[in-house]
Amino acid sequence: MFQDTGAVEKHENVTYAAGTYASRINDRQRAYLRDLIVRAFPGRPPVHHDFACGTGRAIRSLHGLVREAHGYDTSTNMLAMAAEVGTEATLHTVAADGPVPIPACADQPALVTMFRLLLNVDAVVRDRALAFAGRALPDANAGLLVLENHGNAHSLRRLRARRHRGNGWFAELSHRDISHLLHQHGFEIIERRGFSMLTQGWYQRRGLSRIAHSVDSAARLLPGADDYAVNVVYVARRVA
Ligand SMILES: C[S@@+](CC[C@H](N)C(=O)[O-])C[C@H]1O[C@@H](n2cnc3c(N)ncnc32)[C@H](O)[C@@H]1O
Repeated sequence: MFQDTGAVEKHENVTYAAGTYASRINDRQRAYLRDLIVRAFPGRPPVHHDFACGTGRAIRSLHGLVREAHGYDTSTNMLAMAAEVGTEATLHTVAADGPVPIPACADQPALVTMFRLLLNVDAVVRDRALAFAGRALPDANAGLLVLENHGNAHSLRRLRARRHRGNGWFAELSHRDISHLLHQHGFEIIERRGFSMLTQGWYQRRGLSRIAHSVDSAARLLPGADDYAVNVVYVARRVA
């Protein structure tokens, strides 16, 4: 879908327009990621590999905190938009299938990120993405993998699923699915954070967007909130 220029424009200018559900989540994730990098790599900025980088959202979130950045994507249109909006990285077009792409730089420490990919692709693409991460992060001391699940199967949104039975429902992955996938590729989760308890609909209702943002900003900090968040980020490293 992101091979199409219309979809690329929409992703950048509609989905991520200021004040939208996605951009509010992006703001919270950006603050978290910047803090994570400072905590996890004190005095040793990592080389950043953003797999399925799209328009470079994660790369731009970490400008100034990494040694160098590489973005990988199958869509030349997404990469063109990444360059247009000022993403400071070397951008690489990769094939959608075939051999696992090779990280453009083997230096360590490394940070691999994968945002808004796993949910919308099949098991083969998920495995390939994780195999790429394994190449960039060959052992427990090599760095970190950060990935996003933007459709947690056990989120509060699930309460509405019964009404939609038979009419289709959002793609979802559970914490267990993510943990299993990571485990299969020799990773273990060391941190997990929720970034939205509410759904997109709350942000789209007239007059409710600001309130939804305030509720989400506070609610996600409650202990155990990440269990039920719609949008979850996992930090993992290779098993020692
Ligand atoms: C929803 S976009 C997310 C982009 C970016 N990570 C973000 O969060 O804004 C999904 C991206 O995955 C890319 N993609 C799809 N299949 C891929 C594959 N097999 N390998 C690498 N990238 C892929 C698409 O081209 C698209 O740019």
